[in-house]
Amino acid sequence: MSDAKFKQIAKTIEARIDSGEYPAKFKLPPHRALAYELSTTPATVAKAYQLLVDKKRVESFVGRGTFVCVQASLSEVIQPADDEQDYNFSILQPCLLQNLSPLRDAMMQATEQLNTQLMGYTEHSGHESHRLAGVVWAKHYGLIGGNSDNTLLTNGAQHALSLLIHALTEPGDTIAVESLTYPGIMAIAKSAGRHVVGVQLDDEGMCPDDLQQVIRLNRPKLVIVVPSHQNPTGITMPPARRDEIANVIAANNIWLIEDDIYGFLNPEPIAAISNRIPQLSFHISGLSKAISPAMRCGFLKVPDSHIAVLQAYIRANIWLSSPLNYIAAAQLIESGEAFQLAERQRQTAIKRQQMAKELLGYQGRETGFQLWWPLPEHWQQERFVMEAKNKGLIVSSGSYFKVNGEDPHHIRLSLMAISSEQRLQQGLIMLRDLAKSEFVMNPHF
Ligand SMILES: Cc1ncc(COP(=O)(O)O)c(C=O)c1O
Repeated sequence: MSDAKFKQIAKTIEARIDSGEYPAKFKLPPHRALAYELSTTPATVAKAYQLLVDKKRVESFVGRGTFVCVQASLSEVIQPADDEQDYNFSILQPCLLQNLSPLRDAMMQATEQLNTQLMGYTEHSGHESHRLAGVVWAKHYGLIGGNSDNTLLTNGAQHALSLLIHALTEPGDTIAVESLTYPGIMAIAKSAGRHVVGVQLDDEGMCPDDLQQVIRLNRPKLVIVVPSHQNPTGITMPPARRDEIANVIAANNIWLIEDDIYGFLNPEPIAAISNRIPQLSFHISGLSKAISPAMRCGFLKVPDSHIAVLQAYIRANIWLSSPLNYIAAAQLIESGEAFQLAERQRQTAIKRQQMAKELLGYQGRETGFQLWWPLPEHWQQERFVMEAKNKGLIVSSGSYFKVNGEDPHHIRLSLMAISSEQRLQQGLIMLRDLAKSEFVMNPHF
C-alpha cells in the first residue's frame, strides 16, 4: 500500500468533514463501502481512519464504528453568559459583584468632575493625572521607570497588544509567544497576517533555552510574555527566570511585550522583566482584571524611542481612550481604593482555588483566576466541552490556547466569573461528575 494513497484518502475524508458533508457525530461509512466508492482497498481506508483518529478528527469505538469528532468553535465556548442560567467557567473576569458599588460610586464622582475641557477632544495622549495614575498602578506591582511621558493610555490590554503588534511588526513577520497562550494574541496576529510561533513552557514559564532556539530558527521580531498567572496555565515566572528571559531578549536585541495584566495577583510584587531592559520592552498593565473589564483602562509603558510613534498610532486609531473612565480610574488609584479592590479579588481567588481543589480533587495554583484542569484520559477535549455545554457548564477547551505542539488535554476553568459561591460550588460538582462519567454516544446518530 503506498503511503500517498492512504494520506490522500484521509484528506478526502477531512474535506468532507470540513464541508459539512460529514457533520459532527456522523458515522463514517464501513471500510469496505468507502473503499468501493474511492476505488481502493479496505486496508487503505482503515489506515486513513487511523490517521484521522491520531489527528483527533474522528474517533473509533470497538463494535460501533468511527464517528466525526465534535469541534467546538471559539466563540461558542469563550463567551459572556447569563449568570442566572449558565455556569460560566469560560471568561477570565473578576468577581464583579464585589466591585459593583465602589465602581458605581467612582463613576458618579467622575461625572461630577466632568468639565467642558474633559468633555471635548482633549490632548490625544490623555490627561497627565490619568497617565500618572497608571504609573502609580504599575509601580505598585513591580514596574520601575514609568513616568507621565512614557506611559500611554489604551482601551484595555487587548488594545495595547493590538497597537504594539501593528506598530512593531509587518505582515508576514513572526511573533514568539508562550506555546499555550491567550487566544486574543493569536486573533490579532491572524487578522494582521503575522505568524505566531510557540516557545516551550515549564513550571517557571517561558523557557529561555527554547526562546533562544526559536529566535535562531524563526527570527521573530517580537516576543510576548505573560509573566504572572499566565493565561491559560496560571504559571508565574520567578525573578531568576525573568532575568534569564531579559538576557535572551537583550542578547538578540529584539522587542519584548510584557503583558502583566494579572500582576496584582502576586502575593508580593515581582520585579518586571521590563525593568532590566527598558529600551527593548513594552509593559502592559490595566484594571480589567482587578476592577472591571468595563472600565477598559490599560496602561502601556514604552521605551523613549517609541513614545511619539505609539502616540500617533493611538491618535489615528481612537484619538483617545474615554477620559470619563480614566477620571474614575485615577480617582480609585489615587485614593488607594483600587489596590484594596485588587487585594479582595486576590483573596477571593485564593478561596475559590481552595474550593476547586476540594471538589475536583486537583491541586491547581494557590491563587489566580483560573484552573488549568487535566482532563481524564477517557474524555476527548472537544467532546467534554460540548457535553458540559449541554448541561449549562461553559468551559474552555485547552486546544484553544495551543499555538503548536501536542494537544494539551486540559480544560481551562475560570473560577471568578460566577458571582455566587453556592452556584460555583454546584457547577464544580457537576463538572466533577461529568469528568468521572463515561461518554455514551447517542445510538440514534
Ligand atoms: C493575557 C491577557 N491579556 C490581555 C487580556 C485582555 O485584557 P483587557 O480586557 O484589558 O483588554 C486578557 C483577557 O483575558 C488576557 O488574559
